[in-house]
Amino acid sequence: MELLNSINDKKATIAVVGLGYVGLPLLMEFVERDIKTIGFDIDDRKVTMLNDGKSYIKHIDENRVKSVRDTGLFEATTDFTRIKEADCILIAVPTPLTKHREPDMSYIIGTAKNLAPHIRKGQLIVLESSTYPGTTEEVLKPILEESGLKADTDFWVAFSPEREDPNNPNFNTHTIPKVVGANTEYARQLASALYNQVIVSTVPVSSSQAAEATKLLENIFRSVNIALVNEMKMIFDKMGIDVWEVINAAKTKPFGYMAFYPGPGLGGHCIPIDPFYLTWKAREFEMNTRFIELAGEVNTNMPFWVINKVMDALNDHGKSLKGSKVLVLGAAYKKDIDDPRESPSFKLMEILLAKGAEVDYNDPHVPELPNMHHYDIMKKSVELTAENLASFDCVLISTDHSVYEWDFIVEHSKLIVDTRNATQDVTNGRDKIVKA
Ligand SMILES: NC(=O)c1ccc[n+]([C@@H]2O[C@H](COP(=O)([O-])OP(=O)(O)OC[C@H]3O[C@@H](n4cnc5c(N)ncnc54)[C@H](O)[C@@H]3O)[C@@H](O)[C@H]2O)c1
Repeated sequence: MELLNSINDKKATIAVVGLGYVGLPLLMEFVERDIKTIGFDIDDRKVTMLNDGKSYIKHIDENRVKSVRDTGLFEATTDFTRIKEADCILIAVPTPLTKHREPDMSYIIGTAKNLAPHIRKGQLIVLESSTYPGTTEEVLKPILEESGLKADTDFWVAFSPEREDPNNPNFNTHTIPKVVGANTEYARQLASALYNQVIVSTVPVSSSQAAEATKLLENIFRSVNIALVNEMKMIFDKMGIDVWEVINAAKTKPFGYMAFYPGPGLGGHCIPIDPFYLTWKAREFEMNTRFIELAGEVNTNMPFWVINKVMDALNDHGKSLKGSKVLVLGAAYKKDIDDPRESPSFKLMEILLAKGAEVDYNDPHVPELPNMHHYDIMKKSVELTAENLASFDCVLISTDHSVYEWDFIVEHSKLIVDTRNATQDVTNGRDKIVKA
C-alpha cells in the first residue's frame, strides 16, 4: 500500500522514458500538478533542449516547457542508473514496422534492457507504446525480470495506451480518458491512481492484453473507415460524383453514420502501422485479419491513384508527367502539425520522381525534409510566391494546412490537383482544379 499512498499524496516520483510526441506532454501534466518527474531519453539533443527549457515539437509551446523546467520538479537525463530514483516508470518509445511490415520491437526491448539493471523493489512500470496484445506480459516482463526481481511480487506492471491527437484544439492529454489494464488487481489500482492525478478519467480493464487490444481496435476502426471512403472516392470519381459532397450530405444523419474523409493515403505514426501489429500476432493463432489487409491495400494504393490523376490532368493540358514540374503542398501527414512520419507526401514525391517529374515541395511547418526511414528525398521547402507557383506545371495538394491561402494559390497556379477538398471555397479559377 506504500506506493498507492505516495501516488495519492503526490509524493511519488514519476519517470517518463521516451520524451517524444507522447512522453513529453504526459510528463508535463505531472509537473503541472506539482508531481516530481524525471524524463529519460537516449537522444542527447532532446535532453539538452528540455533542460534548457526549449521545445522541439512545434505544437508544444516553448513557454510551457520553460515553465515546467522552472518548477524544479523536472529534469531530463540519458543516465538510466537514475531509474531507481523513480517510483513509477512510464514507457513511451516508438513501435514502428520493420521493412517487412512486421512489429519492430527493438525500442521496447532496448528500453527494457536499459531499465532492467536499475529497477528496484516496489516500482510500478507502465508501457504506453501502441503494440500487439501480449507485449507487456510476453516481452516487457521477462526482460525486466532479468533484474532478478519478480513481476507482480517485487514490482508491478501495467499497460495504458496513449490517445494523443496532436494539435486537436478540443482534446489534450489531460482531457482524454485513459484505458488502464493490468493482470493483477493491485497493479491496476496503482496505475489508475497514478493517471487519475493528471487525466480526467481512467477506464480500468481486466488485463494488459485487453488494454493493448483496445488501442488496436480504435486504430483499426479508423484505418478501415478511411479505406472505405477512399474506395468510395475512386468509384464516385468514375461516376462523376464528388465524394466530399456526398459525405457532407451523409453526415447530416443524426445517428448510425460517422464522417471519415478520403485523402492521398494514410499517414502518421499510428494508423498505417498499428493494425499490422494485430495481423502479425493473429498469425500465431492461425487467424487472418482480412479487413486490416484489405484496408491496407486500398490505403497504400491511394498515392498511385492520385498520381494517375495528376498524369491525366497534365495530359489534358497537353503535357506528360515526365519532365513536368510538380509542387507538392504539405509534407506533414495532417494539417497544422510538423510531424512528417509516414506522410503520404513522401510516397507521392517518390512516385513523381520515379516517373521523371521535377519535384519540389512547400510546407511552412517542415522547412526541410528529415531523413526518413524508407525515403531518401533531401529537399528544402520552396517559398510560396506568385512567381514560384506560376513556374510549376502542377500543384499537388497533399496536406491542407490552415495557413495556406487557397485563393492565392489557385490564382497563381497553372493546374491544381486537390486530394483534400482544400479548395472547396475558392470561386475563381475552378477550371484549373482537379479533385483527386
Ligand atoms: N504521436 C502520437 O500521436 C501517438 C498517439 C498514440 C500513440 N502513440 C504511440 O506512442 C509511442 C511513442 O510515440 P511517439 O509519437 O511519442 O514517438 P517519438 O518518436 O515522438 O518519441 C519517442 C522517443 O523515445 C525515444 N527513445 C527511443 N528509444 C529509446 C530508449 N531505448 N530509451 C529511451 N528513449 C528512447 C526517442 O529518442 C524519442 O524521443 C508509439 O508506440 C506510438 O505508436 C503515438
